[in-house]
Amino acid sequence: MRAAKEEKKRPKLTRRVQFKLVLAFFALIAALLVLLNTYPIIASRDMVFAEKESSLLEQASVVSSSLSGLDNLSGDGAAQIVELLNISGLERIMVTDAAGRIIYDSASASAEGRFSLLSETALALTGEQVFWSRFADGLFVSHAALPVSRGGAVVGSVYLCELDAEQAEILLSFRDRLAAVSAIALAAALALTIIFTRRLTLRITRLSQAVRTVREGNYSHRVAVEGSDELSELYDDFNSMTETLEKTEEQRRRFVSDASHELKTPLASIRLLADSITGSENMDAATVREFVADISSETERLQRTTEKLLDLSRRDDGAHVKSVPVDVGEAASDTMRRIAPLADRTSVSLRCSAEPGCVVLAPEDDVYQIIFNLAENAVKYNIPEGSVDVSVRREAQNVLLSVEDTGIGIPEKDLPNIFSRFYRVDKARSRERGGSGLGLSIVHDAVAALGGSISVSAREGGGTRFSVVLPAFDGKEAGT
Ligand SMILES: Nc1ncnc2c1ncn2[C@@H]1O[C@H](COP(=O)(O)OP(=O)(O)OP(=O)(O)O)[C@@H](O)[C@H]1O
Ligand SMILES: [Mg+2]
Repeated sequence: MRAAKEEKKRPKLTRRVQFKLVLAFFALIAALLVLLNTYPIIASRDMVFAEKESSLLEQASVVSSSLSGLDNLSGDGAAQIVELLNISGLERIMVTDAAGRIIYDSASASAEGRFSLLSETALALTGEQVFWSRFADGLFVSHAALPVSRGGAVVGSVYLCELDAEQAEILLSFRDRLAAVSAIALAAALALTIIFTRRLTLRITRLSQAVRTVREGNYSHRVAVEGSDELSELYDDFNSMTETLEKTEEQRRRFVSDASHELKTPLASIRLLADSITGSENMDAATVREFVADISSETERLQRTTEKLLDLSRRDDGAHVKSVPVDVGEAASDTMRRIAPLADRTSVSLRCSAEPGCVVLAPEDDVYQIIFNLAENAVKYNIPEGSVDVSVRREAQNVLLSVEDTGIGIPEKDLPNIFSRFYRVDKARSRERGGSGLGLSIVHDAVAALGGSISVSAREGGGTRFSVVLPAFDGKEAGT
């Protein structure tokens, strides 16, 4: 029920993500376009204002200096000068006397004789230069006023007003064109954003679908990697993670099936022997003893296998065991003593050489397990009158343990699998010698847990050589 609900929710979620992405892009592009639409217009308008200021003030100054040349500031004189200067394109030219009385007005002759109410004139009569301009209703409206001076005294004022529709039209058409281009750009950007985010969310959806498929146990599922962006890298990582999961699952299955097989065989044999004893009424005592001895050896094998399995599962669980400084040389000599009776049985001679000071920080049992399993194999898979050489020495920051034998050797093709669980070169032979095929995998895991490495090679002149490298301990670290 919950899973079905989740499934329903998902497309909605991706749509929401898509919507948010589109909205964010849209807001960004819209803000950019607003900026692009306002700034150039304001800048062009200010340029026109500046140009108007210089041209109108220049014209006003020409009129003012011409008027200041007149002996008497009169309406006729002003009209003559305006005509003489041939000033065109202005909406209004107004000249006042020092009291602000209009003596000439190009806009209305009837205004002459009245007092000007314009603030520009009033300011000009105080000796100031006045200019202002505005852009409204499709027009540039500019005003300029200057005093008319003679002999250092203000004798009147000139006021000019200009209306410019042409420049305003250019500016307005520029604004309209910019708006049209922006609208097209916005629509294109929006379309691209929708396409892009849809592609992105589709790819994310594909990955989340793949995660769900793998979660349901289909470890062979992979996503097709396309492109080389960050999402493709994520796909790649997902695929390699699923591959690892698949391998681990496969190993787990194989391990369970191998383990049950290993346990089933001795159990079946015990059952057969026991059935034979109980089923035959007049079995002689010697045969019964022989069968019971077989049952005992099978039980011993079962015990060994289960102990090793327990040891492996303890390692897999990462059970924490206290590490202490262990002298590998001493551990090797001890192990040789323990293994001597086994070697005696097949007349295999044991030799052990150990340099002093080969100490590692490890759980004590692990060091013994490593040496014991390697040495036991060296004896078990040896030939009568053969020999085993164990050496322990220091090399830089490492302790090197080498176990060499003159035994039957391991074929080249089996070497890569030798550390796998339940792997035996010759199953029958190993089983006959009580082997379960777990010893070397325990050694491998123990060495890896100590941060070391193990390698195996054929020994010149026959036999096998196992070399283990472990990080040495010089008493600097605290035991854990
Ligand atoms: N020194 C050696 N010389 C030749 N073959 C070896 C040697 N060491 C290991 N092998 C081969 O590798 C196999 C795996 O060894 P491993 O120690 O894991 O298992 P085992 O000895 O069969 O059983 P056990 O779990 O009791 O150790 C052995 O069955 C044997 O065929
Ligand atoms: Mg072994």
